[in-house]
Amino acid sequence: MTKRAGELIKEELEALDHPESAPDPGAGASSGTGPRVSGGSGIQISGLTKTYERVTRKEIVRTHALNGVDLHVRSKEFVSLIGPSGCGKTTVLKIIAGLLSPTKGEVVIEGRRVMGPGTDRATVFQSPGLMPWKSVVDNVILALEFAEVPKSQRRARAIKYVDVVGLREFHDHFPGELSGGMQQRVGIARALAIEPQVLLMDEPFGALDAMTRAQMQSELVRIWEHERRTVLFVTHSIDEAILLSDRTVVMTDGSIREEVEVDLERPRTLEGMLEDKKAIELRRRLLELL
Ligand SMILES: Nc1ncnc2c1ncn2[C@@H]1O[C@H](COP(=O)(O)OP(=O)(O)OP(=O)(O)O)[C@@H](O)[C@H]1O
Ligand SMILES: [Mg+2]
Repeated sequence: MTKRAGELIKEELEALDHPESAPDPGAGASSGTGPRVSGGSGIQISGLTKTYERVTRKEIVRTHALNGVDLHVRSKEFVSLIGPSGCGKTTVLKIIAGLLSPTKGEVVIEGRRVMGPGTDRATVFQSPGLMPWKSVVDNVILALEFAEVPKSQRRARAIKYVDVVGLREFHDHFPGELSGGMQQRVGIARALAIEPQVLLMDEPFGALDAMTRAQMQSELVRIWEHERRTVLFVTHSIDEAILLSDRTVVMTDGSIREEVEVDLERPRTLEGMLEDKKAIELRRRLLELL
């Protein structure tokens, strides 16, 4: 066993001895966050480790997905997370969303510890997971019902965001009648409609064609500039990270390798970035880090 693997197993055992270090999904279930623990703002991620365990007939197979992630996303900041496949990006997002417990470490949002899912956060995953028997608008309304948005406001709000993602003609369609990219846009509308403090997006535009992707990127920036949410955005595209974010965080092998400020004026365009010296240098730097 390598020294690092030995250390990680020791950490895991320590975490088992200190169950308070793992979130209890039952606690604070309505908000998904616990009592105020610090005055920090934004998303504070400290010492996050995650080991997945898979039990086979012969042994327990452990995957060390996160090896101590520390990251601060400032309130209302747009941060992109990039890194090779399997480096732990989705795992980080799921832990922030409260859908997964860390093996060790914690996530604190606006001074409150994450204990489980909550309406202060909304997540867009790689695939949208829509209810096939509900129409586009009703899928969004359902999310608003879970988020305890007053009934009188649900339909108007759902329609507003379905229109924002360019599905005005498809309010009454069912997911099975939509293309994969259109379904993904319903997932994005659903997250935006909750109007969360924190928006977690996991390669949300990966399934979209280039033109729709560009439209969705500028729509997201427009919404973010207008409504100023804290956004953590996973992407495989360096250009997308530079186009959208204030800061790009590079992950490798379950930890943060580097944080790079994206010091470019807004509004930005992909065409403009092709000629901008700072953007070219940023792209070169990020490529080197990956
Ligand atoms: N439920 C699970 N059970 C066991 N191992 C898992 C599970 N989910 C993820 N892993 C493992 O954890 C590691 C990190 O996975 P994760 O999905 O966070 O990576 P990622 O950076 O999001 O990758 P991608 O860019 O391909 O989406 C990988 O080695 C993966 O195989
Ligand atoms: Mg992933």
